[in-house]
Amino acid sequence: MGTLAVVSRKGGSGKSTVATNLAVYLARRTNSVTLGDLDHQQSMRVWLARRPSAAPQVAGWVGDSARLARPALGTQHLVLDTPGGLHGLGLARVVMAADAILLPVGGSVFDRESASDCWNELRSQPRIMKGQCRVAAIGMRVDARTHVERITAEWAASVNIPYIASLRMAQIYVRAVENGISLFDMPDNVGATDREQWQPLLSWAEPVFFPQPKAEPLSASLRLAAKVVPLRPLPHPPTHAQPADRTTAAAPVLGTPGRLSRLLSGLKLSRR
Ligand SMILES: Nc1ncnc2c1ncn2[C@@H]1O[C@H](COP(=O)(O)OP(=O)(O)OP(=O)(O)O)[C@@H](O)[C@H]1O
Ligand SMILES: [Mg+2]
Repeated sequence: MGTLAVVSRKGGSGKSTVATNLAVYLARRTNSVTLGDLDHQQSMRVWLARRPSAAPQVAGWVGDSARLARPALGTQHLVLDTPGGLHGLGLARVVMAADAILLPVGGSVFDRESASDCWNELRSQPRIMKGQCRVAAIGMRVDARTHVERITAEWAASVNIPYIASLRMAQIYVRAVENGISLFDMPDNVGATDREQWQPLLSWAEPVFFPQPKAEPLSASLRLAAKVVPLRPLPHPPTHAQPADRTTAAAPVLGTPGRLSRLLSGLKLSRR
């Protein structure tokens, strides 16, 4: 089972927007996706209630960051939406449950300062230090006419957090939430630019939900066969110091030079 949590201390940074869009993307690839909500505002419930019945279904689960011990039973893929201001034990519990965490960051210096505080707390968690839970930042509501994307990328580099995607400010996100849908429910000709911006994020999240099977170790019988099959010794190549003569040239075919000279002397003897 793969679990990805969307975490940010800052209210309104886009956590629920990222979580709902990611959940629908996964629901289109697999039929077992749960959108978990640790937020007492329960935005997820509002969104799910508006979701058209014909759209790929996402199960809902309401958790509690104060008691989160494990994800919903029977869940295969869990996207966890979290409340703003999560820290301390609540944050540590989310890290315990998650394989990956996305940190949405807005364009203001306040957003970056808040994200730095959150990242500092996250990076001291043992699971994150050991690489068992990956963390990356994404730029939210990025206005392409400004330097926000560059500034956010520079901030990310300065605090040493991977910066994997920038999602532009677009009304399509607001309209999607209103209708209980996501970018990934829309027809090909609507929202293509925005879906394109999601690609690096989706590639980053891919191993969380669809891990590659590990290479099979060599079976016991193959290991045994490898031990008992005798290996032919490689013939000695002629050395550069010696001029190539017939004796050394013939060695690879007939065997060692000693064996060859014995054969030759045998021939001489039989001619007499
Ligand atoms: N890329 C975007 N472009 C335009 N509007 C956006 C974008 N992303 C999010 N929004 C809007 O910003 C508002 C806040 O987003 P959202 O509810 O996802 O934030 P949040 O972090 O979950 O907030 P909270 O902390 O209150 O739970 C919503 O109205 C949402 O539609
Ligand atoms: Mg929210």
